Amino acid sequence: MATIESILHETRLFVPNNTFVSQANLSSIEDYHSLCKEAEEDYLGFWGGLAREYIQWHKPFTQVLDESNHPFFKWFDDGELNVSFNCLDRNLEANSDKVAIIFEADDGNVTKVTYRDLHIQVCQFANGLRSLNIKKSDRLIIYMPMSIEVVVAMQACARIGAIHSVVFGGFSAKSLHDRIVDTAAVAVITADEQMRGGKGILLKPLVDKALDIGGAGSVRSVIIYRRTGTDIQWFNSRDIWWHELISDKPVYCEPEWVNAEHPLFILYTSGSTGKPKGIQHSSAGYLLGAMVSMKWIFDHKLADIFWCTADVGWITGHSYVAYGPLAMGATQIVFEGVPTYPDAGRFWKIIQDHKVTIFYTAPTAIRSLIKLGPELPKKYDLSSLRLLGSVGEPINPEAWIWYYKVVGQSRCPIVDTWWQTETGCHMIAPVPGVVPLKPGSCTFPLPGIMADIVDETGHEIENGKGGFLVIKRPFPSLARTIWGDPERFKNTYFPNDLGGKYYLAGDSANRDLDGYFWIMGRVDDVLNISGHRLGTMEIESALVANPLVAEAAVVGRPHEIKGEVVIAFVVLKGLCPQGDDAKRIATELRNWVSKEIGPIAKPEEIRFGNNLPKTRSGKIMRRLLRAIGRGEQITQDVSTLENPEILEQLKQSIT
Ligand code: PRX
Repeated sequence: MATIESILHETRLFVPNNTFVSQANLSSIEDYHSLCKEAEEDYLGFWGGLAREYIQWHKPFTQVLDESNHPFFKWFDDGELNVSFNCLDRNLEANSDKVAIIFEADDGNVTKVTYRDLHIQVCQFANGLRSLNIKKSDRLIIYMPMSIEVVVAMQACARIGAIHSVVFGGFSAKSLHDRIVDTAAVAVITADEQMRGGKGILLKPLVDKALDIGGAGSVRSVIIYRRTGTDIQWFNSRDIWWHELISDKPVYCEPEWVNAEHPLFILYTSGSTGKPKGIQHSSAGYLLGAMVSMKWIFDHKLADIFWCTADVGWITGHSYVAYGPLAMGATQIVFEGVPTYPDAGRFWKIIQDHKVTIFYTAPTAIRSLIKLGPELPKKYDLSSLRLLGSVGEPINPEAWIWYYKVVGQSRCPIVDTWWQTETGCHMIAPVPGVVPLKPGSCTFPLPGIMADIVDETGHEIENGKGGFLVIKRPFPSLARTIWGDPERFKNTYFPNDLGGKYYLAGDSANRDLDGYFWIMGRVDDVLNISGHRLGTMEIESALVANPLVAEAAVVGRPHEIKGEVVIAFVVLKGLCPQGDDAKRIATELRNWVSKEIGPIAKPEEIRFGNNLPKTRSGKIMRRLLRAIGRGEQITQDVSTLENPEILEQLKQSIT
């Protein structure tokens, strides 16, 4: 509560400066209000107009929205397009010599590709995929480092109408395996190794391991991009080098024209229960969202050098690396490495070297860079910057002010963008030339996004009070379903307790008396670790899968840099371990979680007990575990607790 309260006391207001306003895509409150009004008065006319303006259609649509099968909405459904055509071919006429991607490798090596080069690379690779008999609607897993090639792989899938599912390179073989099985993928695109912070991290062996687990028989081909040339095991039956696949392929590939609703990709994200959800996005609605937000929120112009630091393994890297910037004809940075190598000035050096104008990153990165070198940005020339962005979690006002003053030199507006894997693009974020900013608030919904705050029965809550964040009308970039599980989609996002009407985001939020939105956090058992969503349930399942573990419960504890860290309470099958034994087993379990899910899920702290605090009916009392994990006094009612003595044991047992 402390952080929520301190956010709510924030009253400073930052008005956009004249230099920014005079060049902004949306520069007057009248422009902005007229867009909002248009959306309110003629919702379908508003979105239909934007879809015609932004997207190049192969076959125009006649119907904007079909709501007949609520909540499985269809947008622009009888239209046809190709997303890769919209990102590449469309830029060839006017911009073929324009640099599309400036790639900076971990070691500082820079490679630039123009729109013409990128088009050729995508076409050749798409032809390569077709030569492997990969067709429209087939699923492919992409497990690659940040590179030009990963963008090529995603665009090539889009070009042939295949559906990609990118798996973050930091995820384990087990996570990769689960996604291969859930999508029944026909191919995996990977690299021999990735480079991060001067170290090589193998990728291909993890693919081999994932395929060895069994149940992954759908995979016919593994395509390997040679990043470092390190030795890898080779399976002639399925492995093929990327460079060999494309070597004899034509430099043009006819796009597969697909329906507007054709799935563009599946991206897995954590929920509070069960396995990660395969969030399925559409082609046209998704692309439209990525494009209009580039224009309105990032204020993008052709002369900009755009840099979103997110990995393509997350939604941010889909919308604001692989698709949005290219569809807008942008020049963008793709960075392979980490912000702290060779030192904590790396981001600032990249901004200086490539004259970045728009910079988009996560609060966790900002906080860690403040800690490692608050004065470092001053050593670099950051005068090219004109706009800063933040995403992934609430940004605390202190970090906001540092970002504003030290990185943006009090010149650049900060767009704090609230959105989710499911929403595909920004939902609540300031239009930077118009909206006065309050540090820590993502301000107002985008024109056409009917966000609101309601109580548990779906009734609107007055300004100044907190409640559930909802979006009241369907919007084009909303996910269409959960892959293979439409019921779960419906129950999770359009639950009956809200009458099934509104999209329920799963966040709590507050709107102040000026109408500004403040995101307070998740309302479900989802942790936000370094800006990434992880379900407590997933980590618990991983722990329980270890042969030593009988029972486990996981909670989050606020952390200065990471946002939240994992605290695990574990009951072993044998006796509760003590001293060095406990330390040894805790290390073993940490490594186990890292292997099962990935290093980001590693518990910061493991506490062993003979049992977990439970009610008489056997339900784990998580609020008590949360208090213990945070080192707080237990002030809650414990009268329904069956085994109060367990609290003391868990309090004492930090490893
Ligand atoms: O809790 C919100 C938080 O991140 C969640 C979405 O996570 P994910 O689907 O992984 O997408 C992250 C990148 C879009 C949200 O439900 N979140 C995201 N952006 C913000 C945020 N919380 C506060 N402020 C934000 N700007």
